[in-house]
Amino acid sequence: MSQLLQRKPIAALVPETEGHSGLKRVMGAGDLVMLAIGAVIGAGIFSSIGTAAAGETLPTGEIVRYGAGPALVLSFILLGLVCGLAALCYAELAAMIPQAGSAYAYSYATLGELVAWIIGWDLILEYAVGNIAVAIAWSGYFNSLLTGVGVHLPDFLTHGYRTALLSSDPAVHALLQTSPHVAGIPILLNVPAFAIVILVTWLLYIGVQESVRVNNIMVVVKLIVLGVFVAVGAVHIDTANFVPFAPNGWRGIHQGAAIVFFAYIGFDAISTAAEETKNPQRNMPIGILAGLAICTLIYVVVGLVATGLVPYQQLKAADPLAQALQLAGLATAGWFVSLGAVVSLTAVLLVFQYGQPRIFFSMARDGLLPAWASRIHPKYRTPHITTVVTGIAVAVAALVLDENEIYDLTNIGTLSAFAIVCVGVYVLRRTEPDRVRPFRVPFLPFVSLAGAAACVYIMFGLPTHAWERFGIWLVIGLAIYIGYGYRHSRLRAENRTAG
Ligand code: ALA
Repeated sequence: MSQLLQRKPIAALVPETEGHSGLKRVMGAGDLVMLAIGAVIGAGIFSSIGTAAAGETLPTGEIVRYGAGPALVLSFILLGLVCGLAALCYAELAAMIPQAGSAYAYSYATLGELVAWIIGWDLILEYAVGNIAVAIAWSGYFNSLLTGVGVHLPDFLTHGYRTALLSSDPAVHALLQTSPHVAGIPILLNVPAFAIVILVTWLLYIGVQESVRVNNIMVVVKLIVLGVFVAVGAVHIDTANFVPFAPNGWRGIHQGAAIVFFAYIGFDAISTAAEETKNPQRNMPIGILAGLAICTLIYVVVGLVATGLVPYQQLKAADPLAQALQLAGLATAGWFVSLGAVVSLTAVLLVFQYGQPRIFFSMARDGLLPAWASRIHPKYRTPHITTVVTGIAVAVAALVLDENEIYDLTNIGTLSAFAIVCVGVYVLRRTEPDRVRPFRVPFLPFVSLAGAAACVYIMFGLPTHAWERFGIWLVIGLAIYIGYGYRHSRLRAENRTAG
């Protein structure tokens, strides 16, 4: 038992990141805020907002979740507060332990190897699995963009099998029958979602510097587009749409928050870039907290305009923001928003496809994953092998899966990782009180305990199937840890030699 709880000393974490085997330090505070906005504003606001407002019902009539209605604005505020607590904890740890691997590296130093493994395993849900949903949302807007210019791809090449199976839209559900069949199996593949992931993977393969530059341009575009949505939409708000304000009461606000939490995922992603950041002690907290504050403000305003433009039930679409403008008679603005969504979601894909290989890289360097996962490309200095493995896995999954069920799984995994990080910050204050902390969370233990409790509360807003799948995911992770990581852990090997 005590072996499973062995902690990696922070002193051992920092030098490991210096020298030739480390990654290149190229990013400043401004780049980090841009990286945060690049990660945060994406499928959550452009796509999951529809399900969060309108709720979800299966073709069988079974209600999966209740929608928030116009009270979605309250869901956003609730989440801003919850994520603010978690963000403070991330900022303390990211500044103190400036190493690639995010919550994984922090928990290795605070709560021991087993918890670190579980977090690393949860982070796959956040990064790689989350990107499956982002790619599917990208495809939804890409198709509406093409439709706007008169190009129509065949439906069976733009919808995944699971999407057709779960959709309560009769036209989409009917694709199960009308699509071509091979050996009795309907061929339903989301080809655009697959293609964009492959493209992003290639960009990351050839190097971080180029990718950061591309990201910065995309962030500017995304801010302009949401600005246009708000400016054009605000003058067409019909206040009648705000009544009833909370059609499903607090239950709707809570369950709406649990799915639209996806919109907040990502401010923590920038902590995975700690090893590639100049002066991380100063720049990480600035990047994380400023990024979160800016995004919360944007969500509240966009949520207000979206639910004011049309009755909230009409936001149930693959492209809810574009749909809201179109239904309000603003087709050109709708097309423009689709264009912006395609750009924004590409930026999100980029950040998460960037983050995942670096987490694998950290875990492999610790011996919890095979050594090939920690190799760095001799010319590009990127973790190229894990970049390619992640890219292929995400691209293939995006071909067939459904975005709502992916949002749920990603949210539950991320919220549990957040909760553990919140607890970890307090544990480390107790176990290593004298360590230099360039950024300190105020009001401990309140912030840490309230942050963890709030994350768990949001998790309870998710449907039962999310909990079941999360349980299965954890069991698989533990099996891999027992079968591989436990035996190959570098920390335990070093301790054995020393002992
Ligand atoms: N927050 C990111 C998004 O909404 C993951 O796409």
